[in-house]
Amino acid sequence: MLKSNTREIPLVLGILGAGQLAKMLANEAYKLGLNIATIDKGENTPAGDMTKNDFYLGWENDEDLNNFIEKCDIITLENEFISPEIIEKIEKKVPVYPSSLTMKKIQDKYIQKQNFANAGLPVPEFTEINTCEEAIDFSKKSGYPFIIKTRTLGYDGYGNYLVREENDIYDAFKKFGNRKLMAEQFVNFQKELAVMVVRNKNGETAIYPCVETIQENHICHIVIAPAGIDEKYKIQAQEIAQKCVEAIDGIGIFGVELFIDADNQILINEIAPRPHNSGHYTIEACYTSQYENCIRAVLNLPLGSTEMLKPSAVMVNLLGKRSGIGVPNNVTEILKYDKAKLHLYNKKTSRVGRKMGHITVIGDEPEATLKYALEAEKAIEW
Ligand SMILES: Nc1ncnc2c1ncn2[C@@H]1O[C@H](COP(=O)(O)OP(=O)(O)O)[C@@H](O)[C@H]1O
Ligand SMILES: [Mg+2]
Repeated sequence: MLKSNTREIPLVLGILGAGQLAKMLANEAYKLGLNIATIDKGENTPAGDMTKNDFYLGWENDEDLNNFIEKCDIITLENEFISPEIIEKIEKKVPVYPSSLTMKKIQDKYIQKQNFANAGLPVPEFTEINTCEEAIDFSKKSGYPFIIKTRTLGYDGYGNYLVREENDIYDAFKKFGNRKLMAEQFVNFQKELAVMVVRNKNGETAIYPCVETIQENHICHIVIAPAGIDEKYKIQAQEIAQKCVEAIDGIGIFGVELFIDADNQILINEIAPRPHNSGHYTIEACYTSQYENCIRAVLNLPLGSTEMLKPSAVMVNLLGKRSGIGVPNNVTEILKYDKAKLHLYNKKTSRVGRKMGHITVIGDEPEATLKYALEAEKAIEW
């Protein structure tokens, strides 16, 4: 079944991007008897090093892109910043999931929020802003603080500016130059939540547990599964996440980021059309990982169970603490935590705050699981 249609070799899953998400996808692809191909700018990337089908000039290079397409039976992505025009070009030759149509519905955060709002889903108040005056008008409705966001290419908080007073509006416009911007109500959240949703072409959908994510300087640091909130809010978050994916005709795997505010209202933050940091824990904690289910969905195969194997799981991102080589100083120390599952991404270099790896701990009791994971995290140095 997993044979290529065109060649007497295993089916080749192409991945647009070759970072850690592609690496973890590749691990699952190999388990399922597939081969992979990757395309990204730069040699010796985490996933590029796993295959001889590594195209390292990137998708903006026509020749490299064509050579990559030639190798692939089906293509998915780990990077949402690839332009829909390029995805359309690829789709003419090989199927891509999520599709260019889905990508067009979410790539611009303002259009994404409009699509969710039009589908009747709960989002924070938001508007597009082209001038400082329009931002001031927004402040009159929403009050301070609020957030100015770049509509495209934002990640790890780099596209966000917290506006506390009118002067900050001018600073935000200066900082973001000519980029297209939106303004968004500041949500005074109790917790940030995330739900992974996987959906195949038949419309079959599977939903992972609602988790809590804790960011440090806007970068995901800790994921607690399941989230420590009332069951009814977790179910609500899962229902909203599923509707988000349906609203954009999503095929593949999607990470839906949400807030639960002081009044227990659930609001959508954003959606990622790919495996997501908040779903790393599923590798050890669930019957089927987000990566395996991504592949099943993209190939329109039956989806695997998203149920957890143990009552509790904690994932901690190992963020770079220094600049230098991408190998930690003391792997031995962390491995002494014999119940922590260590993932190293093989990035060439480390820098402060960079995602270099992660650990997952599963257990019976949430507090003990978190404590163990945080102790293990302390053992590693980059
Ligand atoms: N409307 C908001 N209210 C409060 N905090 C927010 C809001 N939007 C974003 N944030 C904070 O900033 C982080 C990053 O913002 P997000 O919009 O998810 O951008 P990115 O694309 O960088 O992940 C969020 O995880 C959250 O902590
Ligand atoms: Mg985000």
